Amino acid sequence: MSQFADRLLAWFDRDGRHDLPWQHPRTPYRVWLAEIMLQQTQVQTAIPYYTRFLDALPTLPDLAAADTDRVMALWAGLGYYARARNLHRAAQVCVLEHGGDLPDDFETLATLPGIGRSTAGAILAQAHGQRLAILDGNVKRTLARFHGVEGWPGSSPVEKKLWQLAESHLPDTRLADYTQAIMDFGATLCTRHDPACVLCPMQDDCVARREGRVGQLPEAKPG
Ligand code: ADE
Repeated sequence: MSQFADRLLAWFDRDGRHDLPWQHPRTPYRVWLAEIMLQQTQVQTAIPYYTRFLDALPTLPDLAAADTDRVMALWAGLGYYARARNLHRAAQVCVLEHGGDLPDDFETLATLPGIGRSTAGAILAQAHGQRLAILDGNVKRTLARFHGVEGWPGSSPVEKKLWQLAESHLPDTRLADYTQAIMDFGATLCTRHDPACVLCPMQDDCVARREGRVGQLPEAKPG
């Protein structure tokens, strides 16, 4: 396993979040709901909505059978309402075409509404321990700094490079923990403004840190 993964997992064991509601139990439906809510909403904001949603609709078939109005009411306040419509539609596809379960195959999962490459990886790594990378904004920032990747991470060559780097660090075991760890790390330590480099377990190998470019990476969208 890469030293990056090794150190990140050790950091997670000591300082990461272990009491998030989607971690206990990490079922596909619970992880999926969390990943969709967390696409554009911070963890602390999402948690009360998450627990209320799950109390109301505890299983994927419950969600599929719910009225659209009920689903939208449970989402009200979170914003980006296309997420809720896609979630509802995807649940109906799962009931009609996949026996009421979320597919555990990457290609099939990634065709469902609202589920792209990163979200599919996040779900399968956390719920099934599959060895798949994720690349959300926090992970892009962390890897751009660690490897000194120049260019705007939204451009396709830079994004391609970051996917390769994300895959290169995947450990052989503990994929669920690793996935939660890298998201937590970017959200709480390797933050956009004022990252806590002195606390970082990877600081000695971080290109941006070594070259004094933490404030410049990742690069902004060219104006
Ligand atoms: N952002 C997206 N998924 C997340 C997760 N599981 N934990 C924290 N932040 C996230």
